[in-house]
Amino acid sequence: MAQSGSNGRRPLLAGNWKMFGRGADLAEIQALAKAIGDVGERVEALVCPTAPYIEAAVRAAKGTPIAIGAQDCSAVGPDSARTGEVSAAMLADVGARYVILGHSERRSQHGESDGLVSKKADAALAAGLIPIVCVGETRADRDSGKELEVVATQVRQSIPSAAGEYVIAYEPVWCIGADRIPTVAEITEMHAKIRQVLGTAREAARILYGGSVNPKNAHEVFSSPGVDGALVGRASLKAADFAAIILAHPMAG
Ligand code: PGA
Repeated sequence: MAQSGSNGRRPLLAGNWKMFGRGADLAEIQALAKAIGDVGERVEALVCPTAPYIEAAVRAAKGTPIAIGAQDCSAVGPDSARTGEVSAAMLADVGARYVILGHSERRSQHGESDGLVSKKADAALAAGLIPIVCVGETRADRDSGKELEVVATQVRQSIPSAAGEYVIAYEPVWCIGADRIPTVAEITEMHAKIRQVLGTAREAARILYGGSVNPKNAHEVFSSPGVDGALVGRASLKAADFAAIILAHPMAG
């Protein structure tokens, strides 16, 4: 049975493969399972490949504690005429357990609004998936001292309106694909703000940090008391790097 962190929440270490990886790279999933061993029982490890590889990734993860998730889903629940869209129900059908929603790349490159992200989160919950709702301020927001307000608004407007388990990933846009992370104090301040916005009724929601997490800075990120895990991009593509991040979590020890 899965254990929980000292705050009662089970750490989640999620890999976002973005538009990288081919069938051959799914071997990283078995390599990851081997590298983390029984730590996979204490923390939750998740790999999110692109949609065409989800079913094969689920097969690759069979017999391991690694969960597989998606990177987006349609906001429309029922099967319908939506060329190019993939429904949450289809993702669940092929074995996905989580879906990343409202990543800053989708917000900036596909014009996704908070309202749309919330609808997608509702569709995910209805299909039995756990949505990972991404939020985060730009550098300009932070430079003008608006970061807490901007992220609080994103959280309020992007979370599902329906009841159900979800995860928040705080990913400052200026740290994604960069080689920097905020200070531990900045991460702690933002996570406390998000926790305050969610309120005590939402106490169970896990809040991840994302943006340039790597094996070198993972200890620092996890030293922030409000951090329930990480959403990892580049460093999740290679099992050795992702395993080093997972093993840096205090619950791994
Ligand atoms: P990164 O990406 O770890 O490569 O910065 C994180 C993310 O975009 O989720």
